[in-house]
Amino acid sequence: MLVVIKKNYEEVSREAAGIVAAAVRAKPEIVLGLATGGTPLGLYKELVALHQTGSLDFSRATSFNLDEYLGLPSSHPQSFHFFMQEHLFSKINLPAQRIHIPDGSLPGEYGEYCARYEQCIRNSGGIDLQILGIGRNGHIGFNEPTSSLASRTRLKALSRETTEDNRQSFANESEMPKCAITMGIGTILETRKVLLLASGHSKAAAVAKAIEGPITSSVSASALQLHPDATFIIDEEAAHSLTQRDYYHHVVEMTKLFSREKLS
Ligand code: PGA
Repeated sequence: MLVVIKKNYEEVSREAAGIVAAAVRAKPEIVLGLATGGTPLGLYKELVALHQTGSLDFSRATSFNLDEYLGLPSSHPQSFHFFMQEHLFSKINLPAQRIHIPDGSLPGEYGEYCARYEQCIRNSGGIDLQILGIGRNGHIGFNEPTSSLASRTRLKALSRETTEDNRQSFANESEMPKCAITMGIGTILETRKVLLLASGHSKAAAVAKAIEGPITSSVSASALQLHPDATFIIDEEAAHSLTQRDYYHHVVEMTKLFSREKLS
C-alpha cells in the first residue's frame, strides 16, 4: 500500500484529483468507481474545475457508484443519486447512460438486482480506478464491520455507528435508512486501482487499523492490504495514529523517483 500523507483536506483533494485526472487522460474510456460522503467533495470540486477549464473530458468514461440507501427515491436530497447529480454529474460531461448507481427504491428481488449490477461492472470491462472514503468504524462502501472479505454487491444492514453518523442529515428518525445496497469487499478488491481518502481526527483510529492492523472483517478497510494497487491519501490528522509515518514519507519520495505515475 502507498500511504500519502498531506497537510490538510485541500491537499488531499488536490492530490487525488491529480491522480484521477491523469488516469482519465491516459484512458478516456476509463471505468471509474465513485464514492459519496463529505470526503470526496473536495476531489469532485477539483475535477469539475478541471472539466470547466477544458482540460478534462469525461465523454467516453463510465462510472459505478459504490452504494445507495435502501428506501430512498433518487429525488430524495439525502440519496446518493441526488448527491452525485448535485456535486459531480450535473457539472461534467459523463454521459447519463454510462452512469450507474445502485437503485435504492427497489421493492424486492435484491439478490437478482445486485447480481445484475456486478454483471454490468464485468460487462464494462471492470473498474479501473475506485475512489473510497472510510467510516469511523472502518467501513468501505457500506461494508459494515464483520462483512465478509469475499462479499459481493448485496443488501446490507447499517451499523449503529453509521446510523448515528447519518442522524444530522435526516430531519426525522422515521426517514433514516436502516439498510443499503453496497458493492462488496470482494467487488472492491477486483478493481484495478484504489484511492482511499481520509481527513480529520475522527478517522485516525480507523485509518491506523486499516493500514497497520491485522486483516480482519472487523475493519473492512484492512482488506485493502490484499489489494495490489491501493493508495491511501490522508491528511495529518487522519494519519495521527499511524506508527510508521516517517517510513511512508520515505516510500513516497522513492515512488516519485521510480514510479512517478502512481502520484499526481
Ligand atoms: P464521510 O464518509 O466521507 O462522510 O466521512 C465516509 C464513509 O462513511 O465511507
